Amino acid sequence: MEQSKIEIKLLKDEKSEDDGIDSESRKKGSDPKSGDQPDGQGEEKFILRIKNLVKSYGERLVLNGISLDLRPADVLVLVGPSGCGKSTLLRCLNGLEPINSGDIELDGELITTGDIKWTEIRQKIGMVFQSYELFPHLTVIENILLGPRKVQGRKKEDVLPEANSWLERVGLLDRADAYPRQLSGGQKQRVAIVRALTMQPKIMLFDEVTASLDPEMVREVLDVILELATQGLTMLIVTHEMAFARAVADQVIFLDKGVIVEASPPEKFFNNPDSDRARKFLNVFEFNEIHKVQSL
Ligand SMILES: Nc1ncnc2c1ncn2[C@@H]1O[C@H](COP(=O)(O)OP(=O)(O)OP(=O)(O)O)[C@@H](O)[C@H]1O
Ligand SMILES: [Mg+2]
Repeated sequence: MEQSKIEIKLLKDEKSEDDGIDSESRKKGSDPKSGDQPDGQGEEKFILRIKNLVKSYGERLVLNGISLDLRPADVLVLVGPSGCGKSTLLRCLNGLEPINSGDIELDGELITTGDIKWTEIRQKIGMVFQSYELFPHLTVIENILLGPRKVQGRKKEDVLPEANSWLERVGLLDRADAYPRQLSGGQKQRVAIVRALTMQPKIMLFDEVTASLDPEMVREVLDVILELATQGLTMLIVTHEMAFARAVADQVIFLDKGVIVEASPPEKFFNNPDSDRARKFLNVFEFNEIHKVQSL
């Protein structure tokens, strides 16, 4: 476990150096790929702003005043105990769950009041879940082209080079004509990521994308996300993979009982968290890891 943590960390550091993009310059939106420069007024640009979001299911209050901001190229990792509201928060962001109150601003546009055009908004938010939800009767490339063609009305000849380029980057170009049943879980999840990326989203949301994978496939999917981070993609990631969280995050958000208890840089959060609740959460996690190793 410890070894894989170091490997992941090194991987990110090396790539950052190679690309010449450190996390500070990514935060300032100066990655040429992001194209999101702060405007001439010196005003800060945000991809996502959540203000005081409240969400309940009936009597059960699940999110109680969540506020957070993502600037271009920010990578925020959301961690917390099971049931604390992580998935609910992601689902609220693309309208899969109605909210009780609060504001959500996506790419400068308020998406919580007025005439909300969810079909347009969802094109700006790429979401990848634990289950891949690929169409079984379509090949890999057909699955990927479906959204850009049907929802965005783009031409096949425009989307295909982009789709192939993403497939190449995740190591699956040679599987473009395979059907999902012919792929491993890790390969299917990488296809699901490519499918979301080919819609050219402003932000990617990942909800425990490795949770249902066999251990040997976890790494190949996490590597893809680490690579996306070095390229300046704005991401909000829910994960129980703490070594990965540490390596990929600009900031770790610790959620407990629907409240943000702590928001810290990863070194601070994992080495010296401010709150007792975060410390207990990390202790339990470490115990689980040790327990898993012993029971092998
Ligand atoms: N559709 C629903 N109806 C009622 N309650 C729900 C619904 N979905 C989630 N909840 C409740 O909301 C709370 C937050 O659930 P959520 O799935 O967001 O947790 P989570 O932090 O993602 O947990 P996990 O780490 O296990 O995925 C839980 O108490 C859950 O039981
Ligand atoms: Mg969840």
